[in-house]
Amino acid sequence: MIRTVNLKKSYGNFEALQGIDLEVHEGDLFGFIGPNGAGKTTTIRILTTLLEPSAGEAYVGELSVWEHKQEIRGLIGYMPDSFGVYRDMTVTEYLHFFAAAYGIPHKERASLVGGLLDLTDLTYKENALIETLSRGMQQRLGLARTLVHDPKVLILDEPASGLDPRARVEIREILRELKRMGKTILLSSHILSELAEVCNRVGILERGELVAQGSIDEIMAMARNDTEVWLRTTDDARAAVVLRELSIVHSAELDEEKGHVVAHIDTDADLGAVSEHLHGREIRLRYLERQDPTLEEVFMKLTKGLVQ
Ligand SMILES: Nc1ncnc2c1ncn2[C@@H]1O[C@H](COP(=O)(O)OP(=O)(O)O)[C@@H](O)[C@H]1O
Ligand SMILES: [Mg+2]
Repeated sequence: MIRTVNLKKSYGNFEALQGIDLEVHEGDLFGFIGPNGAGKTTTIRILTTLLEPSAGEAYVGELSVWEHKQEIRGLIGYMPDSFGVYRDMTVTEYLHFFAAAYGIPHKERASLVGGLLDLTDLTYKENALIETLSRGMQQRLGLARTLVHDPKVLILDEPASGLDPRARVEIREILRELKRMGKTILLSSHILSELAEVCNRVGILERGELVAQGSIDEIMAMARNDTEVWLRTTDDARAAVVLRELSIVHSAELDEEKGHVVAHIDTDADLGAVSEHLHGREIRLRYLERQDPTLEEVFMKLTKGLVQ
């Protein structure tokens, strides 16, 4: 539904996107994750036809951002990373304004706006001035606005940034509801855990390069190709050396401070082989623990280019 092919963007000499191949399938709730400055907003502005690529292709549906700007704009709902200020406008007036701008017939607007307020849980604020809303409510209103023309694709730039935990949960619930309604959603974030539980697929961007893309399970599996294992034995110093003889062991060091051996081992490796090997050298295993990485650690690893 969204696809880029070797997409590049330079600002002067600086290559902000270094040829990325992004793939968002129809019906995905896709998390576009990367630290600040990675190039998320640049990619999003290209997909929303607000910025031209330096090279490569980007498609929304089968429409190219080079040739079909107007058609793409009709297909997508876009929420930018900063929300414009609309003083002296109420929530309802604001949505009516955008409904009119999108050419929704006058007689349909009231029920449309009512439905959007209901979906984003803002009905009780319908007559409130926008400037009096909390940031969370403003983000929900921003989301409502992107839905005015019933777009098939939603592109949301950091919709949960700056929100308190409760407001984040509310945004997530709305996103889930939109996914159930069949929308394809791409949203960006610099916080992996913010998206992990709501997205079915993610892409991880680091300095203009897509270092990983897939389901959360697939991404975790990539990092798990290298599992950290902690061991204590009857002779830790010798165990570290002996372990390195095994082909499944990538590294093994004695951490004197922690008082155990830290080994990096193939994920699918049979840990029984480790204990047997030590046994063969007359070292007895006293303790062994796998340190399965958290999503945060996987993210750190991926964005440091250690795994690809
Ligand atoms: N208009 C611009 N001119 C020059 N550099 C820019 C411009 N916009 C973004 N950049 C640079 O491109 C990189 C990616 O920015 P951006 O796409 O905003 O990243 P993100 O949204 O992931 O934080 C950053 O290093 C940023 O400073
Ligand atoms: Mg950004």
